[in-house]
Amino acid sequence: MTIQMKWLGVAALMACAMLAAACGGNASKPGNSGPAAKARPETPADFKDKKNALAGNADAIKAGEGLFKAQCVSCHGAEADGNAEAGKALTPPATNLRAADFRAQSDAYIFWRISKGGVGANISGSVMQAYDASLTEDQRWQIVAYIRSLSEK
Ligand code: HEC
Repeated sequence: MTIQMKWLGVAALMACAMLAAACGGNASKPGNSGPAAKARPETPADFKDKKNALAGNADAIKAGEGLFKAQCVSCHGAEADGNAEAGKALTPPATNLRAADFRAQSDAYIFWRISKGGVGANISGSVMQAYDASLTEDQRWQIVAYIRSLSEK
């Protein structure tokens, strides 16, 4: 074996090790179910421990559905599955809020994203607006409860 060939082998081994480390790191992140899963920012410290006191509450889910139908369907689709022409045409597109990788996120994450929008999460090009000025905390939690009540799609 020539010296060059030996070095090629070493380089290939190193590349493999680095790739494996990268993949392993990804797979161990909560909510990241594989290569197709969308990369998401961490929920900031002032939101990450928040809990939804209205989780599973039938009245809250109904109220959340009303708010969602009025304010969110134009981009996220009537079924919250990202199937709206306007939302699909965006870059990044409006999320399918029923997809497995989104459903794996915490209530705190969802509440934060509705509260602070794309700007608050530093997502380049996102037109997802911050709703903390136009919706009360309870209204935002009602929407979280509604999104949680939907099945995976
Ligand atoms: C004008 C279009 C538009 C409207 C209206 C809109 N969104 Fe979004 N939304 C987006 C886009 C685009 C993204 C993806 C980019 C991002 O994550 O910021 C997004 C992302 C999100 C996310 C984070 C999803 C993820 O992939 O992590 C949540 C949660 C969300 N929207 C909920 C809502 C709710 C609830 C409403 C209504 C109160 C709403 N959105 C209204 C465009 C919209």
